[in-house]
Amino acid sequence: PLMVPKSLMTKEEEEDLGSGKSRVSIFFGTQTGNAEGFAKALAEEIKVRYEKAAVKVIDLDDYAADDDQYEEKLKTETLSFFCVATYGDGEPTDNAARFYKWFTEGNEGDMRLQQLTYGVFALGNRQYEHFNKIGIVLDEELSKKGAKRLIQVGLGDDDQSIEDDFNAWKESLWPELDKLLRGEEDTSVVTPYKAAIPEYRLVIHDPSFISEKSMDSNLANGNAAIDIHHPCRADVAVQRELHTPESDRSCIHLEFDISGTGITYETGDHVGVYAENHAEIVEEAGKLLGHSLDLVFSVHTDKEDGSPRGSSLPPPFPGPCTLGTALAKYADLLSPPRKSALVALGAYATEPSEAKKLKHLTSRDGKDEYSKWIAASQRSLLQVMSAFPSAKPPLGVFFAAIAPRLQPRYYSISSSPRLAPNRVHVTCALVYGPTPTGRIHKGLCSTWMKNAVPAEKSRECSGAPIFIRASNFKLPSNPLTPIVMVGPGTGLAPFRGFLQKRMALKEDGVELGPSLLFFGCRNRRMDFIYEDELNNYVDQRVISELIVAFSREGAQKEYVQHKIVQKAAQFWNLIKEEGYLYVCGDAKGMARDVHRTLHTIVQEQEGVSSSEAEAIVKKLQTEGRYLRDVW
Ligand code: 2AM
Repeated sequence: PLMVPKSLMTKEEEEDLGSGKSRVSIFFGTQTGNAEGFAKALAEEIKVRYEKAAVKVIDLDDYAADDDQYEEKLKTETLSFFCVATYGDGEPTDNAARFYKWFTEGNEGDMRLQQLTYGVFALGNRQYEHFNKIGIVLDEELSKKGAKRLIQVGLGDDDQSIEDDFNAWKESLWPELDKLLRGEEDTSVVTPYKAAIPEYRLVIHDPSFISEKSMDSNLANGNAAIDIHHPCRADVAVQRELHTPESDRSCIHLEFDISGTGITYETGDHVGVYAENHAEIVEEAGKLLGHSLDLVFSVHTDKEDGSPRGSSLPPPFPGPCTLGTALAKYADLLSPPRKSALVALGAYATEPSEAKKLKHLTSRDGKDEYSKWIAASQRSLLQVMSAFPSAKPPLGVFFAAIAPRLQPRYYSISSSPRLAPNRVHVTCALVYGPTPTGRIHKGLCSTWMKNAVPAEKSRECSGAPIFIRASNFKLPSNPLTPIVMVGPGTGLAPFRGFLQKRMALKEDGVELGPSLLFFGCRNRRMDFIYEDELNNYVDQRVISELIVAFSREGAQKEYVQHKIVQKAAQFWNLIKEEGYLYVCGDAKGMARDVHRTLHTIVQEQEGVSSSEAEAIVKKLQTEGRYLRDVW
């Protein structure tokens, strides 16, 4: 038996060991809740399959207070699983960042974990360059440190069906886990696990119970820390369209008023915004569920009384509130439903043909149909529900198992606190367009921003819960260091903040190093956003040169990377010694193409081979001189 210092174990864990149970720890690194959901589902299934297992689900951030404690605690683990997502530019999720940095860089490679058997399920999207990087690196590092890999790393691809990937990974996991966790005498056939449908306990309240105040009880109020779990309401001070009427698209400049909120930020940070579903959408959802939007209720997990069903639930939202509020603020109604949501919906379909079709969609045989009818056609949860009108799940099931929690949307802040200490500026392109089924998809947060009423126009202005997410997209500490910025479209956002800061430095008498800004848009007359400001920064010598690629003016498309190629020597001369290169914007197209261009330029300018050029680019990255803020 493993010797574990007692002080590190909770009472519960001591009891488990005493009773001969095997501890299984399931860690998650989650941004939007998917990895957490998978970790919890895995835990439930292990509990059902193996009596011997004492399973715990652990948020990587909550696991240890500091690096030493990480090490101390990891050395006590014997069987662990990691469900970790990769997001942005191959980065760990916020809650895994501290652990990941320490585990991959901080412990000087001498930590040994021979006592540990492990498995990793990675969550990512194949459309991105660093597909599942975090899961893959974690898996390799664990193995390097002597831990025993129980199963190949699972590569979940959200571009296809990540639930299928997870199920396939679990199928190969069970035989391995059987060897570890099933007693030799235990020869019974394992009954296939059938997930119970999670459900909140619902309490209906008298409508008089509700006060305006209780509805916003999750908001941080000045003294508490403001973060993703405790956002703070900020009013919209300014809202205006940045495109000219000639443009058939829309891009909004929005300013949140953060005076008196306690919110602070740095140039280059992101703002998380909790937008609400549009009233039309909420109305439709209420009808489909068959309830009045005025119904006042609260949801509970009953963790107190040890209900096993409680553990896989998302945390309940603060209540009591009306159904209208709950649907507007907490329910993701427009994303395509997951298979687990269809299972839950199917369980409540009273029309047999509907129940059958829902069942089919989640079955092995229905895999292609799910991909086609749901995923590829971007059929929203509401569309699916209206196709199965007999399925009216109880609200406790709807909020626990069918509608995922509405997630905040992130924007690169387009201001600097040096110029705008009381404002957070956002530059947001409107997401609007038809999906394959003909539904017009209106982006949740961008539509909200498009319709937002600013305080400068009405005292009844719009507002939203917001919070700041720190980023490493920062100007070099020495203002003389050369910088090159590449940001077409709304990729310009963080650079507007950079320029505001440089302007403020200049006004303080600080000398600035050379800087290039590559911007791209379709047409000078339509979407050259912040044109006057940018020209002013050139006049003031805050930027040495502004280079704009217009993609739809000439006969041929011209993009930022084409402009970079035209200035290859100047571009590389600025960067190669000590300069910084920043790229912001669309990851799948622009940032990938700019990356390739950089590689080619290094190869040509330095006269080196492709692999040598790759090493040079890598070095830039590890030195933190090639930074990307991409989505
Ligand atoms: P397009 O819409 O004409 O294709 C901001 O969105 C600018 O980025 C637009 O001019 C857009 O051009 C351009 N853009 C689109 N794809 C790009 C890519 N892969 N690389 C660089 N710029 C791109």
